[in-house]
Amino acid sequence: MTDNTRPVYAVIGSGYMGGGIAQVLAMSGADVRIADVDLDIAAGNRDRLIREAEQFAADGLFPAEAPALIAARITAATIEDAVSGATFIEEAVPEKIEIKHDTLRRISRAAAPDAIIGSNTSTILIGKLAEAVSNPERFLGVHFSNPAPFIPGVELIPHTTTDEAIIPVVEQIVAATGKESARVKDATGFVLNRLQYALFHEATQLVEEGVATPEDIDTIVRTTFGFRLPVFGPFAIADMAGLDVYAFCYASLQTEFPERFATPKILDDLVTAGKLGTKSGAGFLDVPADRTPELVAYRNKAYVAIKKLMDELGPAPIHAAATHNS
Ligand SMILES: NC(=O)c1ccc[n+]([C@@H]2O[C@H](COP(=O)([O-])OP(=O)(O)OC[C@H]3O[C@@H](n4cnc5c(N)ncnc54)[C@H](O)[C@@H]3O)[C@@H](O)[C@H]2O)c1
Repeated sequence: MTDNTRPVYAVIGSGYMGGGIAQVLAMSGADVRIADVDLDIAAGNRDRLIREAEQFAADGLFPAEAPALIAARITAATIEDAVSGATFIEEAVPEKIEIKHDTLRRISRAAAPDAIIGSNTSTILIGKLAEAVSNPERFLGVHFSNPAPFIPGVELIPHTTTDEAIIPVVEQIVAATGKESARVKDATGFVLNRLQYALFHEATQLVEEGVATPEDIDTIVRTTFGFRLPVFGPFAIADMAGLDVYAFCYASLQTEFPERFATPKILDDLVTAGKLGTKSGAGFLDVPADRTPELVAYRNKAYVAIKKLMDELGPAPIHAAATHNS
């Protein structure tokens, strides 16, 4: 069943990420054509996406109508048929530049010249991928996170010649899926992976130095600063803590690690200018001082709600289940 009032999108590479992206685009109201190495694989992946949606709906993770919508709106096609007439095309083939370049060339040849093309690459520079795209001004990174059906954030990564006018169009496409996008420059690691790996790097140093075990580090991250992260990013947290406090902590960290924890210039400049975060009404983010009580109340409510949710969920089944000796 197709409905000519629905937008037509294509997802090329219908594996783990592409499959999840196709599901959310279909649930957002689009007809989605999926393609893969060949039509049989795409058709098999379509069946898998429908079965998965049935399970998600049975588990209360997708709306009850999702499996029927996905079955009606996702069709399997060849790459050429999938992209022909599509207004938005997402590439999600393996993270190998030769495969991505070949696929982007095929997409470029068969798609309308003004169709917007996104790549789900995690690590390859968008400018490098753009070399294989004709009309590269309609190309950008549209980086969904794993698992795509459930993680709400998407990085949008224009390269140097991406047409500014396509960004709001892609923002709308992402917003229609219920997800939130943020814009990032085309720099190695983008934002998500650069930050995620910075944290992982420091965590591995702590293990190697014998400061704490992986288990204890995970506990500390989950239950302390990581507990804030669904609500606040690092800049909101720093503003609330006080930027002068951050400057003192940096000085302390520098006694052992002078280079690794050198005080960032932008922090120093704000402190010197008397912008100390929410308590002074200005910091990295401009939270007016008169909204501080509202912010504190929101923060407290959020943390209590998250604690309740985590207690309801119980611990992640990472460790072997407790066994009972009879
Ligand atoms: N898995 C993750 O956690 C994750 C998270 C974010 C981004 N990504 C990125 O998403 C992209 C896809 O990753 P994935 O985990 O879904 O991989 P995957 O292996 O599950 O899926 C890739 C799909 O592309 C198909 N494919 C291979 N060659 C092809 C070709 N020439 N033409 C058409 N289809 C082809 C494969 O058959 C497969 O179905 C990669 O760029 C990856 O870096 C992955």
